[in-house]
Amino acid sequence: MNNRITRRDFIATGTAMSGALLLNPLNSLASHANANKKKRVAIVGTGSRALGMWSKDVQETYSDKVEFVGLCDINPGRLEFFKKACGFTCPTFNDFEKMMKDIKPDTLIVTTVDATHHEFIIRGMELGANIITEKPMTTDEEKCEAILQAEKKTGKKVTVTFNYRYSPHRAKLYELLRNDTIGELTSVDFHWYLDTSHGSDYFRRWHRLKEKGGTLWVHKATHHFDLLNWWIESDPAEVYATGALDFYGKNNPFRHTNCRPCPHKDKCNYYYDITKNKQYMDLYVTHEKHDGYLRDGCVWKEDINIYDKMAATIKYMNGVQVSYSLTTYSPYEGYRIAFNGKKGRIDAWIEESHPIEERPYDEIVVNKNFSTREFIQVSQGTSGHGGGDRLLKDKIFGGVTEDPLHQSASVRDGALSILVGIAARKSCETGKPIKLADLTSLELGVKRQFVQS
Ligand SMILES: NC(=O)c1ccc[n+]([C@@H]2O[C@H](COP(=O)([O-])OP(=O)(O)OC[C@H]3O[C@@H](n4cnc5c(N)ncnc54)[C@H](O)[C@@H]3O)[C@@H](O)[C@H]2O)c1
Repeated sequence: MNNRITRRDFIATGTAMSGALLLNPLNSLASHANANKKKRVAIVGTGSRALGMWSKDVQETYSDKVEFVGLCDINPGRLEFFKKACGFTCPTFNDFEKMMKDIKPDTLIVTTVDATHHEFIIRGMELGANIITEKPMTTDEEKCEAILQAEKKTGKKVTVTFNYRYSPHRAKLYELLRNDTIGELTSVDFHWYLDTSHGSDYFRRWHRLKEKGGTLWVHKATHHFDLLNWWIESDPAEVYATGALDFYGKNNPFRHTNCRPCPHKDKCNYYYDITKNKQYMDLYVTHEKHDGYLRDGCVWKEDINIYDKMAATIKYMNGVQVSYSLTTYSPYEGYRIAFNGKKGRIDAWIEESHPIEERPYDEIVVNKNFSTREFIQVSQGTSGHGGGDRLLKDKIFGGVTEDPLHQSASVRDGALSILVGIAARKSCETGKPIKLADLTSLELGVKRQFVQS
């Protein structure tokens, strides 16, 4: 209670502060200089996501607001390739602690393997940086709690990069739900299909191991659970889930270490020729000698210990219930969702594998009870992840301050989305429903708290 600031306190403090600034022009100058200062940004984890999303493009698009001051990775070859590919001149490090102490960045981007995020988020804040972390924020409830406590203790800020919220189609769904289009929301049906190409890729890479990515309940579904938490505008309360590995991994009669030397390539539908992808050759294959990581790993490897089909029932604090599933070997990629309300239903679907030229817009259907059916067409965004990537970067680096649809995600949002996945994973392992309150110190509410990040 002591930490809560009421609107009256805020106005009083704000007025007192503006008074102080007026009385002291030096303060005002200092604050103006701060606003004009470039963000000094470092990256830990110079892999594919950092290269495609958080480096060269950020430098080129927001050059007046951002400068890259340090790069860190445990693979020295990949690190040097990354620096060159971005055209950066900043120093590189294999030792994270040394980078933070030498460079003292004010912002740290965390794009390492999921299960290591917490190390860099926590230590990064302790060493003075605000954090921009890729999803999932982390992979289990203990690490999640440690991040929440570190943010409180250091007074620094964690932003989780939930790009999915920014796609125009999903934003339109949020608006429709807030505008009472179907009355009180009571349940949601949400089914996500990864196709044989994208889905199988999770089983080739480090993601295939629970100890690295926390299973797809966390690594992948964190996006979907974040969308649900945001659309429903309540905190999740309880999860019951089942899952199995009945397609990839041990389920095939033949296997090898990876695709390049595989003797079965002629008969394997999942053979992947990485030599045709120049970027992956430069980023991964050339540097295998440093860490032994095979980017074209066999999808039939017996060490795969994650689920490839998953289903969950999620109950929310406001009574909404969700029926969710994730499939990883579908002929097409996309999802179907329906929101059921007391006055109607909203249906929406995306087939991402259809080329963008063949679907210039995505549709939403609003069915009102005892009334009409309305078709709404939403134009595609042009950047990655349904148009979300550019809008997210504009928010984080481009100085966009308004957030009318609450698309910006804080540490609380990062935590609640992974906690649904962690609860689902625990439920699969125990056969029991899992309460989120048993996994976190966060106070769970019927009405979702939006914390600016
Ligand atoms: N939001 C999205 O849509 C999206 C898309 C892709 C990836 N991601 C996320 O981005 C992150 C990175 O994924 P990726 O596809 O780039 O993986 P990647 O394997 O290409 O890159 C990970 C990098 O981290 C490095 N690394 C691993 N452990 C490290 C450590 N202890 N210290 C320093 N470096 C370390 C690896 O050497 C590698 O270069 C993941 O958390 C992933 O979930 C998000």
